[in-house]
Amino acid sequence: MTEKSSHFEPRVLTGDRPTGKLHLGHYLGSIENRLKYQDKYPGSFLYMIADVQALTDNAENPEKVRANVVEVAKDNIAAGMDPTKTTMFIQSMVPEIAELTIFFLNLVTVARLERNPTVKDEMKQKGFGTSVPAGFFMYPVSQAADILFCKGNIVPVGEDQKPMIEQANEIAEKFNRIYGAEIFPHVEAVIPDEEHRRVMGLDGNAKMSKSLNNAIYLADSDDVLKEKVMSAYTDPNHVHKDDPGTVEGNVVFSYLDFFDPNKSEVEELKAQYRKGGLGDVELKNRLYDVLRNIIAPIRERREALNDDEVMNILLEGTKRAREIATATMGEVREAMKINY
Ligand code: TRP
Repeated sequence: MTEKSSHFEPRVLTGDRPTGKLHLGHYLGSIENRLKYQDKYPGSFLYMIADVQALTDNAENPEKVRANVVEVAKDNIAAGMDPTKTTMFIQSMVPEIAELTIFFLNLVTVARLERNPTVKDEMKQKGFGTSVPAGFFMYPVSQAADILFCKGNIVPVGEDQKPMIEQANEIAEKFNRIYGAEIFPHVEAVIPDEEHRRVMGLDGNAKMSKSLNNAIYLADSDDVLKEKVMSAYTDPNHVHKDDPGTVEGNVVFSYLDFFDPNKSEVEELKAQYRKGGLGDVELKNRLYDVLRNIIAPIRERREALNDDEVMNILLEGTKRAREIATATMGEVREAMKINY
């Protein structure tokens, strides 16, 4: 942590867009870090379901966003998020975040937003061109408000979110400077270890993602998991069991590297595969067992959760988040001389 932020208490904030269930890429990429920080700073961790942000590119699909609020909360709780340690809340129910976004928008130029690499990539991916919705275009500003409304200074996120944190820091510094008050802290992004950054898709694509239809979900049943594992991309030239096979780029080995607790056995299997004599089906059966050991307990905890109960957890968390938001907005309005 930097000198500047030293008078701020540690406050962890992170969030998910409720647009789909979580998959194994999320599990390695962000859930692990969340659980680590939840235990390190119990009571100081806020987890946001970013429904407002989800609507920036789903304005015409409110049902989808609505349905996924509870699903994403369930995924997190099933994977170990503990509502007694972590304040879980819904973004749209904390209107102070929207208010803060409006004030922050005065501190950001259109040119700067155009340079945000994450927004640039997403705009290209979604084919927005010049008809990008203004709300989507400025969502980094809204995300800065997500983090700063509670003076978040530790933000566990995927690597793709780094530009968002950079922009949040620029906004925080500019606010503090212009309004002559040290209201907002310096924000540190906590990025997963390099080897955990990218879980490839079942099809061998560099990224596991819902839109590419190549993901294994934490909620997948054993049958679905088996089917997906059996369909995983291996080495197209490894036709017969005795053919020598390639390990690099082979999805099954890549997942075994991530998830199989017995690393030395995985190394032996790699040697055997390279030499020839190890069939894909045998290898995939092993991967199925390894993944099932991770996913089945999460899925079972997930199935035991009741929708109303989960919604209540979110509503309770939202009350706490609003108290924090109200306190910050008092300081913000005073600094901006709009505390009438
Ligand atoms: N943009 C994040 C994502 O797509 C989700 C998010 C919204 C978030 N607000 C946030 C993450 C604040 C960290 C902090 O994954």
